[in-house]
Amino acid sequence: MTVLPQRRLGADGPLVGAVGLGTMALSGIYGEVDDDDSVRLVHRAIDEGVTLFDTSDSYGQGHNEQLLGRALTGRRDQIVLASKFGIQREGLGRPDRVRAALEASLRRLGTDHLDVYYMHRFDPTTPIEDSMGALGELVAEGKIRHVGLSEISAARLRDAHAVHPVAVVQQEYSLFTREPEVDLLPTMRELGVGLVAYSPLGRGFLGGTFRSVADIAADDPRRSRYPRYSEQNLERNLALARAIFDIAEARHIPPAVLALAWVLSRGDDVVPIPGTRRVQNLMSNISAAAVELDGVTLADLERVAPRGAAVGERYDEAMSRRIERGEET
Ligand SMILES: NC(=O)c1ccc[n+]([C@@H]2O[C@H](COP(=O)([O-])OP(=O)(O)OC[C@H]3O[C@@H](n4cnc5c(N)ncnc54)[C@H](OP(=O)(O)O)[C@@H]3O)[C@@H](O)[C@H]2O)c1
Repeated sequence: MTVLPQRRLGADGPLVGAVGLGTMALSGIYGEVDDDDSVRLVHRAIDEGVTLFDTSDSYGQGHNEQLLGRALTGRRDQIVLASKFGIQREGLGRPDRVRAALEASLRRLGTDHLDVYYMHRFDPTTPIEDSMGALGELVAEGKIRHVGLSEISAARLRDAHAVHPVAVVQQEYSLFTREPEVDLLPTMRELGVGLVAYSPLGRGFLGGTFRSVADIAADDPRRSRYPRYSEQNLERNLALARAIFDIAEARHIPPAVLALAWVLSRGDDVVPIPGTRRVQNLMSNISAAAVELDGVTLADLERVAPRGAAVGERYDEAMSRRIERGEET
C-alpha cells in the first residue's frame, strides 16, 4: 500500500491522506461512467491509502452517495467521509432541513455518521448562525464529527465560526482559480480552518488530456455548463494550460502531477480532492504527494499562471449569483 503523507485539516480537524478523491464525476457529470468500475476505483483508492472521500447529496441526486455507500461496505472505518447539503435551492439551510438532509445522506451512504458535513452553498434565506446552530447540535449528537462550508466569503466564515468551529472550507483552488488567496485563505489561517481544494485540476484543463479544442468531445457536458469551456473562452484557457504543460514537460512530470504538487505546495493545511474515473489517473494523482516543486518551478508557474489568468466565470449565471449572494456581508 502507498504511504500517503498525512495532513491535518484545520487546528482541530481530521487527519487525512494528503491527496483525497472527489467522487462527483462518478455520477456522470463529465460524461458516462459505469458503477461497477467506480466501485473498483474507490476500492483501489482505499487500498492505495487515500482516506478523504468527497461526495454530496446533489451529485446525481443521491446516486453518488448510494454508489459510495455500496463501495464502502465493510470499509467505512478506513476512510474520512465528507458529504454536503444545500446546493439545490434556497431554504435548505433551515435547521429542520439540515437535519433531514443529513438523515437522508446517512441512509444513502449506509453509515451512522459523517466525518465532515459541509454546507454546500450559503442559504440567503436563513441566517448562517441558525444553520451553524443546527450543525453544532448534530456534532453534539455524534452524527457528524466536523463542520465544513463551501464557497463562502471570509466575512461569512467569521460569522459562522463564532457560532460553532468550522474545521474545513472547501473552495475551488488550482492554477486556474487562485482567488481564495486574496482574503479567504488568510482568514482561514487566522481561525485555524483547513482548505480542501476542489476541482484542483481545473475541471480537467490541467490534466494534460485536453491540448486543443478537438480533444474535447462536442457533447462533453462541460462545454455547455461552464463558461471557461465555452467557445468564447476555450482557446485562451487551453493556451494557458499548454504553457503550464510546458513547465511540467521540462521537469519530466505529468501535467496533473505538477498541478496537484502546486496545490500541495501552498501549505500543509491544504488538501486537494482531484476527481477521476480512471485507475491510472488516480495513481498519478496520488503520486503528486511525493513531489516537491523547487523554487524555479514555482516561480515559472507564478509567471505563467498568476491569479486571474484563466478567462471566463467559473459558473453559469444562476450559480454565480448564488455564490455572489453568499459573499454579501
Ligand atoms: N464544493 C463544490 O462546490 C464542488 C464543486 C465541484 C467539485 N467539487 C469536488 O471536487 C472534486 C474534484 O473536482 P472535479 O472533478 O470537478 O475537477 P478536477 O478534479 O479538477 O478535474 C477532474 C477532471 O480531470 C481529469 N483528470 C483527473 N486526474 C487526471 C490525471 N491524472 N491526468 C489527466 N486527467 C485527469 C478527469 O478525467 P478522468 O475522469 O478521465 O480521469 C476529469 O475530467 C469533485 O469530485 C467534488 O468532490 C466540489
